[in-house]
Amino acid sequence: MKATAKAHTNIALIKYWGKRDERLILPTNSSLSLTLDGFSTTTTVAFQEGLSEDQFMLDNQLVEGEAFRRVTKFLDLIRQLAGKEQLYAKVNSINDVPTAAGFASSASGFAALAAAGTKAIGLDLDDQALSRLTRQGSGSACRSIYGGFAEWEMGEQADGSDSFAVPIAPARHWDVRVAAVVLSSTMKKVSSRAGMKRTVETSPFYSGWIDSIPNDLKQIKEAIEGKDFEKAGSIAEANCLKMHATTLAANPPFTYWHDTTMRVMHAIQDMRADGIPAYFTIDAGPNVKVLYLPEDEARVKQRLSEISGVSGVILSKPGQGISYL
Ligand code: PMV
Repeated sequence: MKATAKAHTNIALIKYWGKRDERLILPTNSSLSLTLDGFSTTTTVAFQEGLSEDQFMLDNQLVEGEAFRRVTKFLDLIRQLAGKEQLYAKVNSINDVPTAAGFASSASGFAALAAAGTKAIGLDLDDQALSRLTRQGSGSACRSIYGGFAEWEMGEQADGSDSFAVPIAPARHWDVRVAAVVLSSTMKKVSSRAGMKRTVETSPFYSGWIDSIPNDLKQIKEAIEGKDFEKAGSIAEANCLKMHATTLAANPPFTYWHDTTMRVMHAIQDMRADGIPAYFTIDAGPNVKVLYLPEDEARVKQRLSEISGVSGVILSKPGQGISYL
């Protein structure tokens, strides 16, 4: 009744931004990501007779409050699937995220928890079923079941049965690199959940976002297949800017960007003007991820490190999907 699994985080090139069902975590648009080898979570789940509740340790610290409740709620889904509603577990997670980088990820966390939890309780789910389940812990996590490029198909059904991720191309298909730019100061965070909700409900730009997704997905899949870096990078960057534009038009308006975020964005445009192909993408926070090719690694790292307000640059390659240890 014990299993250990490892999962990596992923960065969306076409963003998931908005839910049509908050409880089941069903998105209003399909999305596409690249799994990264740099940031992972390793989780052991041990179900034990005689426990009266779950226990969750993260990096060897006991977790309580909202983070604990999210884990227990997710274990409830696993218990229901297995028909073992009264069986509680000890969960031990270790995040392999460079310290203080501010990149702790719910994607690697819920993917590892889903894989270890289902295995520990004796369920044998295929990747599709595992992705569908993982989605209900954290939406973006459903893409981390797979290595390399994965698409989360939004689906149409009200019960979420057709909303899960599928593999697009494995990590070995294309060695695109990602630099995670760490900012020295942080700011008050609007959670992705709250940010999506406010945008869907109030932003007049939201319908434009939704309308533009099918073509972005079609184009980026062609670019990935043909390994066309300029095309893939420019679509990803434009898609990110569109997502962030929806927040500026929300009511009340908000942005995830920090002054350093803007400096990094400008620096990347300057790099392109100097002949270095590099593109940025930004999630629901101020940090920037930069896409580049292996041959430009030294130059990209150097240029990013020189930007005022940047405290670190973490380099990553395409990563693998779920593994069991
Ligand atoms: O899965 P969540 O709730 O962490 O939301 C992720 C949302 C974005 O990171 C902004 C986009 C994405 O597709 O990962």
